[in-house]
Amino acid sequence: MGVKELASYDIDRDYYYNLENGPRLVVEKVKGLRNEPVEIFGKRVDFPLGVPAGLLLNGRWVRAYNHLGYPVVVYKTVRTCEYPCHPHPNCLFVKTDMLDPYDLPDVLVAPEGYEPERPERVTITNSFGMPSLPPEKWQEDIDRVRQELLPGSLFIGSGVGTFSGTSWELKRDFARVAAMLKEAGVDAVEVNFSCPNVKNGEGSIYTDADFSAEILEAVRKEIEDTPLIVKVGFLMGKKLTEFVARCAKYLDGIAGINSLQARVVREDGSPALGEGRDRSGVCGWAIGKCAQVFVQQLAEIRDGIKADFVIFGGGGVTDAEGFLKLKSLGADVVMVCTGAMFNPLLSQEIRGDGEDI
Ligand SMILES: Cc1cc2nc3c(=O)[nH]c(=O)nc-3n(C[C@H](O)[C@H](O)[C@H](O)COP(=O)(O)O)c2cc1C
Repeated sequence: MGVKELASYDIDRDYYYNLENGPRLVVEKVKGLRNEPVEIFGKRVDFPLGVPAGLLLNGRWVRAYNHLGYPVVVYKTVRTCEYPCHPHPNCLFVKTDMLDPYDLPDVLVAPEGYEPERPERVTITNSFGMPSLPPEKWQEDIDRVRQELLPGSLFIGSGVGTFSGTSWELKRDFARVAAMLKEAGVDAVEVNFSCPNVKNGEGSIYTDADFSAEILEAVRKEIEDTPLIVKVGFLMGKKLTEFVARCAKYLDGIAGINSLQARVVREDGSPALGEGRDRSGVCGWAIGKCAQVFVQQLAEIRDGIKADFVIFGGGGVTDAEGFLKLKSLGADVVMVCTGAMFNPLLSQEIRGDGEDI
């Protein structure tokens, strides 16, 4: 079986097919999982392992992965309005070596027909555009599934503001989506700042510490004492220090990294995802070193300012070794997305105590 067939998400079909029919799983329950309880936001969580925003397209996906041994589950990013998905294809395999955090390439290649040999080596580009069901649909879905999660779980809802003209409106929309997530009954709200920064035209919100803090202040006011997490892309050095200095007071957690933006092309240099979609996010194995640098630096900054936000560290974890590495560098919870997509039983490799599935 190729790695494609092992995946819970069928990358040959479109997002709506996967939303309605997924996840594709060979096994639905695993036995013999070791617990290593941690306390997060005052809740006991059985093991510091989770699936970040993205793979868990709806309640069925959230439940399925939770029951496979991922106690921390994040519902895919939602909006205050219905929003369409980018056209198919949304995921392609990228052929690359491990990326060097200090010398990131601007262009990566997704050769036509290329498929990695092993799930541990999968790197993909993904481009969905953060589609969303209308709020009444996702709120009902969240409310239903939260009652079906295993004890010892943490259920996070991810939201993003939708730009409709001004940065003030965007800020208000972030606050609104956070309030809707809270109302639906999640344990914690995550705001996704790794989306285009409409204020400065270029870059992403997380690269603008002042605007990030402004939005977080508005969200915090709206959701009061509900735990608040911010999801960011790859930052390091001064930029990361500045982000934490401005934003930490509003936060209970920082999640990262998101996929790395790059120009992804076919071997002939044409845009791999089609015209007009030149840049897309790259995730999976090849971004592992970037995630390690990010988590290590974030943990050092946190220690330096004696803050106590929770680090949801992820990026490029595709095996038990990758999990242990991020944990040792300071992640309180390790999040696996591409790794869990192509190997849904990664939870067993990480938590297994030798018993059969
Ligand atoms: C199929 C897919 C969809 C994603 N969608 C989202 C999303 O909606 N919101 C978000 O914050 N991150 C999204 N991500 C990014 C992941 O949460 C994660 O940060 C990134 O993939 C890096 O982790 P990984 O290397 O383990 O995949 C998505 C990733 C994938 C693979």
